Amino acid sequence: MSGARRPLVAGNWKMHKTAAEAVAWCEEIEGILGVPRAEVAVCPPFTAIEAVARALADAPVWVAAQNVNEHEAGAHTGEVSAAMIAAAGARGAVVGHSERRALGETDAVIAARVRRLLDHGLTPILCVGESLAQREAGETEEWLARQVRACLAHVHVEESARVAIAYEPIWAIGTGRTATPETAQAAIAHIRGVVGERLAAGAMRILYGGSVTPENAGELMAQPDVDGALVGGASLDARSFAAIVHAA
Ligand code: PGA
Repeated sequence: MSGARRPLVAGNWKMHKTAAEAVAWCEEIEGILGVPRAEVAVCPPFTAIEAVARALADAPVWVAAQNVNEHEAGAHTGEVSAAMIAAAGARGAVVGHSERRALGETDAVIAARVRRLLDHGLTPILCVGESLAQREAGETEEWLARQVRACLAHVHVEESARVAIAYEPIWAIGTGRTATPETAQAAIAHIRGVVGERLAAGAMRILYGGSVTPENAGELMAQPDVDGALVGGASLDARSFAAIVHAA
């Protein structure tokens, strides 16, 4: 983590927690978080955004959605707009998570979502990452470069600090097979180089995600280019999430 960028630790709950369960988590985290050095965000399901934003109104934690639709409004059954998440209290959204890409979301759609979020004053947390087959075939760098260039195609240079990227190797998500600090550092340094072709790479935060735990978080985030973590499973428990925040 470079001194120029404040680390960001974000918890992605995926399809877990009702609004009532989410509020219980908020009450627990408020009691143990203190004043963290890292910026902290939590990504509840859409149905809990408003309750979490209200519960954390006085806490140093902001709320992000887990996805957003690229259109302003319209006939898009089951989708949720940037204006809607903002009105519910979200300040950003994850976009391009590999679990969403697996359902057919393309780089072009993700790029439009990044743009829509920025237009609403919201922070995109853009996920990129390679599969195990791509890593073993030596295609990681080329694949990450393609994803980053395509998904940030509509971002302007002066918006660089408003975007975060999460490098999430697919083989590390939910598998307990965390990337080593060296592997995470190398991939994130590469991503930063690609960002720098057109944008202000030194201003953009690039997180690591994939089986982050309280045990491995410190080592990962100590790497010079790793600006924080996107945490799935270990964010569901307030104590383990707080421990990861404190490791930053
Ligand atoms: P995990 O998920 O921490 O459970 O591996 C990370 C993510 O998918 O964001």
